[in-house]
Amino acid sequence: MTQHLAAPSTGTSDDAPGHRTGWWQDAVIYQVYPRSFADGNGDGMGDLAGVTARLPYLRDLGVDAVWLSPFYASPQADAGYDVADYRAIDPMFGTLLDADALIREAHGLGLRIIVDLVPNHSSDQHEWFKRALAEGPGSALRERYHFRPGKGADGELPPNDWESIFGGPAWTRTTDPDGTPGEWYLHLFAPEQPDFNWEHPAVADEFRSILRFWLDMGVDGFRVDVAHGLVKAEGLPDLGSHDQLKLLGNDVMPFFDQDGVHEIYRSWRTILDEYPGDRILVAEAWTPTVERTANYVRPDEMHQAFNFQYLSTAWDAAELRAVIDSSLDAMRPVGAPTTWVLSNHDVTRHTTRFGNPPGLGTQIRTPGDRELGLRRARAATLLMLALPGSAYVYQGEELGLPDVTDLPDEARQDPSFFRAEGQDGFRDGCRVPIPWTREGSSYGFGDGGSWLPQPGSWGTLSVEAQSGTEGSTLELYRAAIAARREHPGLGAGTDVEWLDAPEGVLALGRPGFACTVNTTGAPVRITVPGTLLLASAPVTVEGTTFELPADTTVWWTV
Ligand code: GLC
Repeated sequence: MTQHLAAPSTGTSDDAPGHRTGWWQDAVIYQVYPRSFADGNGDGMGDLAGVTARLPYLRDLGVDAVWLSPFYASPQADAGYDVADYRAIDPMFGTLLDADALIREAHGLGLRIIVDLVPNHSSDQHEWFKRALAEGPGSALRERYHFRPGKGADGELPPNDWESIFGGPAWTRTTDPDGTPGEWYLHLFAPEQPDFNWEHPAVADEFRSILRFWLDMGVDGFRVDVAHGLVKAEGLPDLGSHDQLKLLGNDVMPFFDQDGVHEIYRSWRTILDEYPGDRILVAEAWTPTVERTANYVRPDEMHQAFNFQYLSTAWDAAELRAVIDSSLDAMRPVGAPTTWVLSNHDVTRHTTRFGNPPGLGTQIRTPGDRELGLRRARAATLLMLALPGSAYVYQGEELGLPDVTDLPDEARQDPSFFRAEGQDGFRDGCRVPIPWTREGSSYGFGDGGSWLPQPGSWGTLSVEAQSGTEGSTLELYRAAIAARREHPGLGAGTDVEWLDAPEGVLALGRPGFACTVNTTGAPVRITVPGTLLLASAPVTVEGTTFELPADTTVWWTV
């Protein structure tokens, strides 16, 4: 079937009221998971020196900024999302001098640095929490967390019915200094991650000071972990008979997405605005709707929020179009850029997601059809990078890495894996250290092996194997990001124009640019909309119509 693609108009609503400009508006931001990126000292664990040494690779990839997952002092109960000291580097990752060197080198290469901030909870080894436990009931430090007496005759039942995201009750009972069972404390994640009480002024003061510490170190922004969780509903009310797993992500919970969180971000914004340069706040906020996500990026709050609705969308033209529209519509009134993300350290890599049947969620345990998954992943990436707004790339996706779904149980480290019926649990599969070279110890990750075993086939997926190789996924990412910089129609603005297209095909127009996406498993004949710029799979364009191959995206200049 041949369909006519109308020429895209050049009009956008970029001058809409409230529209803000800045480097982050259409930035491509690369997530480094420090444990698994590059190991500088050969202990099998990635570190800051390893990241610094590989920064030229990121500059050459063409990204604008690097977001680093936590590298702070931590007992690593949740891979560093359990922070014991927010102003210190864990020795496993290096020192503050290494962090300073990384920030300076990055800036020298024109890369910005975003660090992870974990304000919802600390580690149970944080000084405040250790003292709160040691001092026993009545300790003033207990007020900085959520300590409560238990229910039941002897306080043997948790104070409410909330469950941990990682499985099991969200409460753990303490033992008093005299050895008797004592109060309970709240932890929405692992027991080693007690939740802060954000009603306490000392908590708010401490985080304002931590922000300043890292801003003074020169960072360009913060990715705010569990930004939706800081404020809990008054009185910590029971959920009642509701199935928490079903509610999560679909409803406002007494512990997630409470309106009170926004006051905190308004206060942080004033701090960032005091600093020179464009420093940004990025919300990791899992909310029920894109409209509620938009609340986090109102003009006096954060700058960006992850678009998890987009990440959770199946490889389906109609669903993708709907989520693209609703995302752009939700962000337009608040003047914030829409963001796009397909993979991160908490979800199955999109290569594996798209090779499995839809509807399995974001934690998938089967490899699926590897070839199909990679083909769709490449097409999905070109669609994402064509959209207006900012895009997030997770380390290794530029190599087309699949999730490692067959890790032996004894190798796994995700705390949720060890707790029954947690929401997560299989996140190690996307955290396997990335391959740099065809051969050698851990494929060039480092000289001392790798903290999670890498599949034997990873040499062929390495940076070395793909660099300069025509048609490789790495070269596709490099070409796409370079084209984004060159063509103003890509990334900038807040609108897309949907062009006529057959069922299962998306055709979108941007100023001077068009993007066609076939999400079906069969080729579809369409009108050639312009001059071929880039394609996620080999295409032949002759005449005025052409066959858009199955599961393929093509970029055009018009
Ligand atoms: C965020 C992080 C995740 C972590 C959790 C608890 O969702 O991305 O890795 O386990 O917060 O901090």
